[in-house]
Amino acid sequence: MAQQHVLHHRPIQSSSSSSSPHSYSPISNRPIFLLSRNGLFLLLALLFLVGVFLPWTGSNRGSSSYFPSNWRDYSLAEAAKFVSKDGTVIVCAVSYPFLPFLNNWLISVSIQKHQEKVLVIAEDYATLYKVNEKWPGHAVLIPPALDSKTAQNFGSPGFFNFTSRRPKHLLEILELGYNVLYNDVDMVWLQDPFQYFEGSHDAYFSDDRTTIKPLNHSHDLPIPDRNGVTYICSCTIFLRPTNGAKILMKTWIDELQSGSKAYEGNDQPAFNWALNKTAHQVDLYLLSQAAFPTGGLYFKNETWVKETKGKHVIVHNNYIVGYDNKMKRFHDFGLWLVDDHALESPLGKLE
Ligand SMILES: *[C@@H]1O[C@H](CO)[C@@H](O)[C@H](O)[C@H]1NC(C)=O
Ligand SMILES: *[C@@H]1O[C@H](CO)[C@@H](O)[C@H](O)[C@H]1NC(C)=O
Ligand SMILES: *[C@@H]1O[C@H](CO)[C@@H](O)[C@H](O)[C@H]1NC(C)=O
Ligand SMILES: *[C@@H]1O[C@H](CO)[C@@H](O)[C@H](O)[C@H]1NC(C)=O
Repeated sequence: MAQQHVLHHRPIQSSSSSSSPHSYSPISNRPIFLLSRNGLFLLLALLFLVGVFLPWTGSNRGSSSYFPSNWRDYSLAEAAKFVSKDGTVIVCAVSYPFLPFLNNWLISVSIQKHQEKVLVIAEDYATLYKVNEKWPGHAVLIPPALDSKTAQNFGSPGFFNFTSRRPKHLLEILELGYNVLYNDVDMVWLQDPFQYFEGSHDAYFSDDRTTIKPLNHSHDLPIPDRNGVTYICSCTIFLRPTNGAKILMKTWIDELQSGSKAYEGNDQPAFNWALNKTAHQVDLYLLSQAAFPTGGLYFKNETWVKETKGKHVIVHNNYIVGYDNKMKRFHDFGLWLVDDHALESPLGKLE
């Protein structure tokens, strides 16, 4: 396939862009390559080799022999290598009660054809086994695991201990050399986000403030408000494996460790301080508000949603308290995809 593509592609390219420095005359080159006996033999031999070896290398990826006999022995490095494509991994972190939200998010990611890159960081063993049973290789657990007692205590110091591990996981993936897109699972993709990570900045993120900005707003870190704080969301973060992105993650980890009391179950303020402290040395990029709107805007201002129709890329179901309320709101806005699109989820139906 790849060979055929190259052979067909070159003459088309050369005739359509004669000014290109790589252009050549198809008339003078083609006979040498195609009509000489040696050339023809070489081509056949090449196609034969491709035909023989591609199925082997291709099936390696899906083979169960790649996986350990127990998922608890599956490492982050193995998992990242298995799911990555073009050097990129998409991660989320999920505990068992949130599987329905994971499924909903995953359906939206699948519709945009990026599901193969998804790695679920399971907070507990039930999630690890469930996801890997349905979709082998796409979940990993980085010990220690959340026990069911702590899991019930949302907002407790123990629970916060877990959510606060996010920058550590992201740093580890960066150290392995991958681009990483982190996403919360109370989100839905309406378009492919990757085209919005333009340029070669270290870190991309969105604003959680509901104040409406002009469509051409600046991509710099926003100016702190009257209280001296910014409200960048820790829900969508795209990082390149650069020194800058690693410095940002390390600073976020330091902030969490030095001030966890003040943050009370939320790692977002620490992320904002990390951005503030590293802005002079890290290349930061604020994503478009219309493309990555906060729930405080998307679900609350119908006029704005109409004005920005067609521009929304990832919608965040935040600015609402409670599991059931969140789910109901997704239903009300036609964003609960689980009912009608269950077959499009790599997890299939979750019973
Ligand atoms: C948080 O995690 C650290 C290190 O894993 C542990 O020493 C500490 O006891 C934990 N705190 C709570 C409240 O669970
Ligand atoms: C956005 O557009 C307005 C009106 O065209 C212009 O005055 C303003 O300078 C632009 N802002 C940025 C950040 O480009
Ligand atoms: C960091 O925060 C301080 C205090 O709020 C503020 O004065 C400063 O402008 C911020 N720096 C950046 C780069 O946002
Ligand atoms: C809702 O959006 C419209 C259009 O952008 C804006 O004029 C209005 O001020 C917004 N309302 C609120 C409450 O922010």
